[in-house]
Parts: sequence; structure tokens; C-alpha cells
Amino acid sequence: MKRIAIVTGASGGMGQVFVRELTKEDIDEIWVVGRNEKRLLMLKNEFGEKITPICKDLTKNADLLSFLELLEKQNPSVLWLVNNAGIARMAPSREFSFSEIEQIIDVNCKAPAILINFCVPFMEKGAKILNISSASAFQPVPYINLYAATKAFERSYSRALNTELKSNGITVTAVCPGWVDTDMLSKEINGKKVRFPGLVAPEKVVRKALKDAKRGKDMSICSFYVKCQHLNVKLLPQRLTMKIWLHGIKNYL
Ligand SMILES: NC(=O)c1ccc[n+]([C@@H]2O[C@H](COP(=O)([O-])OP(=O)(O)OC[C@H]3O[C@@H](n4cnc5c(N)ncnc54)[C@H](OP(=O)(O)O)[C@@H]3O)[C@@H](O)[C@H]2O)c1
Repeated sequence: MKRIAIVTGASGGMGQVFVRELTKEDIDEIWVVGRNEKRLLMLKNEFGEKITPICKDLTKNADLLSFLELLEKQNPSVLWLVNNAGIARMAPSREFSFSEIEQIIDVNCKAPAILINFCVPFMEKGAKILNISSASAFQPVPYINLYAATKAFERSYSRALNTELKSNGITVTAVCPGWVDTDMLSKEINGKKVRFPGLVAPEKVVRKALKDAKRGKDMSICSFYVKCQHLNVKLLPQRLTMKIWLHGIKNYL
């Protein structure tokens, strides 16, 4: 039985780094999932036959179900599932259309929950699930309200599931980075260059996430900056932490 890792959003900034780091593990194949076929094929060119590109749109039920069919046909042992695909946009909540709200919830919440249920029957003791949440999961965040709320879902879902799956020997880790230097970040808003306090390279987040998952931690926080943020939101009233956030972004609104 072949032993595999699955990485969603593998065509993006953090996803590519997860793939690179997982090639160092004792795994037969890495299934790289995303919509951008060209980028997935570039991973195959870079890392070779170990990479299996799987072109899927995680908002589409048909694509999710065909992924299950693939699992059933190949019957692999899933050692790693990294639910990394995600969508974000900073804007007033009223500007989000019906389909945009649906897409963000589908990619950030629905797809990870479904893929986990598809994969768990193919997992043995020692298998690991990583869900890429965010530091925005720690508190309500005006103007990235929907994104932050979906990330709060991922964090809460992961930690509870980690407890549920303990008896199977499967660990679930919610990865909660602050700003990470990838294409997801809009470097300019309303003609103004955006500052990202505590910005880190994706490599730093990914290496810490894999290390924490191996240690069986249910949450991974990679930098001192985000650890302080985490402590602050525990100590301060949420009304105040939202005011501090609004003060930081007022120039871009
Ligand atoms: N960058 C940050 O500051 C930051 C901070 C905290 C958490 N995160 C989280 O980290 C994760 C990775 O983000 P990133 O920074 O690497 O962003 P990114 O470069 O924009 O990558 C996002 C990935 O999600 C995939 N994706 C989006 N919609 C999809 C869909 N409908 N179906 C399948 N795949 C889809 C994209 O692939 P295709 O375009 O090929 O479909 C892409 O590979 C996300 O969950 C994000 O929320 C990021």
C-alpha cells in the first residue's frame, strides 16, 4: 500500500513550501491539489515522479466527490493531510457578493471538513492532519470579518477533532500564522503601500507547523509576534483588541 501526503492549495505560496518540506519525509507520493494545473505541473517538474497533480476546484461538490473516488480506487495510506487552500479579501462586509461569500466559506470551511472525513478511513495510527487557520482566528476582525470568522471555524474544528481522533492515534493541528509573505497579501490598498507587522517567510511557518504536528500539538504558532498577539487577546476585552486593529488599518480604508 503506497503512503501518501495530500496538500491542498499546493499551487500557492505556503502550499508549495509544504510540498517541498514533505518531499524530505518518507512518503511514496504527494498529491498536490489546486485549480491551476500549470503550477501543479511545475511542482512535478521540480520534485519529480513523487508528485501527483490533482486539478480540483474545492468549491465544487463534483470535484470533491471525484477526489473520494480517487482515494477509493487507489486505496493509499494517507500519512499527511494538509488543508492549506484558502481565500481572503479585505473589504467592508457589505461589498461581498452572494457567490463570493459562498466561495470563501466553501474553500475555507466546507472543503477541509469534507476532505478530513474522506481521508480518515485511509489513515492509520500516526497520521497527521494540518488545517491552516490564522492568527485572525483569535478575535473578531472588522474588514476581514468573513475570512477571520472562517479561520476561527478552522481553529475550533481542528482542536475539537484532535480530541475526537486521539483514540485512533491521528493528530489534528490548527496552524495559526500572522502575516505571511505570499501572493495572498495585497501589497497596495487604495494606492497606499501596506505595512504588515510581524511579516514572516512561508518557510518559517511551514517548518514550525510540521514540527508541531509531529509533536502532536493541536495548535502551531510560529513567531514571538503572534504569540504576544495570542496572549493579548486572552487578556484584553475584544472590543479593545478590535479598536487596536482598526487603528492599525485606518490609513487603508
Ligand atoms: N498569507 C498570509 O498572510 C496568511 C496568514 C494566515 C493564514 N494564511 C492561510 O494560509 C493558507 C495558504 O495561503 P497562501 O498565503 O499561500 O495564499 P495563496 O498563495 O493565495 O494560495 C492560496 C491557495 O489556495 C488555492 N485555492 C483557492 N481557491 C481554491 C479553490 N476553489 N479550489 C482549490 N484550491 C483553491 C489556490 O490554488 P489555485 O489558485 O490553483 O486554485 C492557492 O494554491 C490559506 O489557508 C490562508 O488563509 C495565510
